[in-house]
Amino acid sequence: MLASLFKAKSVAVVGASNVDTKIGCIILRNLMRAFKGGIYPINPNYDELFNLKCYPTASAVNKLIDVAVIAVPAEVVPKVLESAANAKNVVIISSGFSEVGNEKLASQVLDIAKKNKQRVLGPNCIGIQVPKTGLDTTFLPELASQGNVAFVSQSGGFGSAILNWSKKENIGFSAFVSVGNMSDLDFADFIEYLNKDVSTKVMALYIESVNDGRRFLEAAKKCKKPIIAFKIGKTEEGKKAALTHTGSMAGSYGVYKGAFRQASVIEAESTEELFDLVKGFSLVKKPKNNKLVIITNSGGPGTAGSDAVQSLDLVKYVDLGGDATVEVFRDAFKTYGRQEASFLVTVVPTAVADTKAIGLEVKELAKRKPTVASFLGCSAPEGVASYETPERAVRVLERLRKA
Ligand code: COA
Repeated sequence: MLASLFKAKSVAVVGASNVDTKIGCIILRNLMRAFKGGIYPINPNYDELFNLKCYPTASAVNKLIDVAVIAVPAEVVPKVLESAANAKNVVIISSGFSEVGNEKLASQVLDIAKKNKQRVLGPNCIGIQVPKTGLDTTFLPELASQGNVAFVSQSGGFGSAILNWSKKENIGFSAFVSVGNMSDLDFADFIEYLNKDVSTKVMALYIESVNDGRRFLEAAKKCKKPIIAFKIGKTEEGKKAALTHTGSMAGSYGVYKGAFRQASVIEAESTEELFDLVKGFSLVKKPKNNKLVIITNSGGPGTAGSDAVQSLDLVKYVDLGGDATVEVFRDAFKTYGRQEASFLVTVVPTAVADTKAIGLEVKELAKRKPTVASFLGCSAPEGVASYETPERAVRVLERLRKA
């Protein structure tokens, strides 16, 4: 069922507009950027919008539509839904429901959607981006890059942060989903769907709360792909903020922690660690054993990396010296890369180190072996899981091994 959302071939934008500051206008323009399917602007005030025929209601399109994105004020949403029964899924961008205590309106909307046999994403969300098809119901400034990470977030605003970071780090997404108040579709639904989605290698969840803990646990336990979760709203102050954000009861953190452990969900302790883990799980091969080899051209970072090792077994530490050239790195990767082990490579710029060329050698090593890197004061090429510090690189490798 959710395939009709993720693989939508037709999208209606209710509340589409030509006023470029209105969210309905931005969503329509975003969708037109790359989406090749049918696009149907809906607004009784226009006959045409950006050279597309505009319809007074979704039902006036007169055929089944995979997704109707709704960007009209909350009180208008029931009326809009009544005339959108031909949409298989609805994405409700509008806020003004449970998060402001308007439960009555929230349940009225859900009842209509149930009658229409529709699944609801949101309300109070920015919906979904699927970079591969150009599907974009959001009002974010850019479409994410294509890749193998599915990001499901209870914060829509966090979407911008994820986008910025991913462009900088060259991480790509199979999907980005903002779940909002989760009046219908919940984390469990997405875990079940994405587990079978061939484009997704790893899932990352930014969670304030889940509606049905038991379903979440079941779905996460059955899931064969790694799930990385970052729980927000852990403290009393955080819980109060969550309540006003998405109307969610953030619940006891201990219960979530227990559930994560039971279902082998990999828990990130911070936003920074969430990003670190996403990068590692997206790019690095899974270690087959506990053996770690560290190769460095500087004793300081190499030693810091060694100090950070907790659960892996450091079987070889190779300091190539400050005068190591790319050839020396290449030979070392050839020699030590024969063994079944994971690798941490730390690189600092020196007069003789062509860090770009070394980066490409690291990339080659990473194709054969689980490899993390720390390029300090220089940058790693696209596709290499490089971290600002060797400690962070080691931590990711250890989590990968345990997953
Ligand atoms: N069918 C189709 N279009 C309709 C309509 C209907 N029944 N009723 C109104 N519209 C049109 C309006 O005419 C308007 O377009 P126009 O002025 O160009 O004709 C458009 O829909 C938008 O309505 P408007 O009243 O101007 O609302 P708005 O754009 O100021 O705000 C929301 C709408 C949804 C953006 C706003 O209510 C909201 O909820 N904002 C918060 C969104 C948010 O933050 N979400 C969570 C993110 S994490």
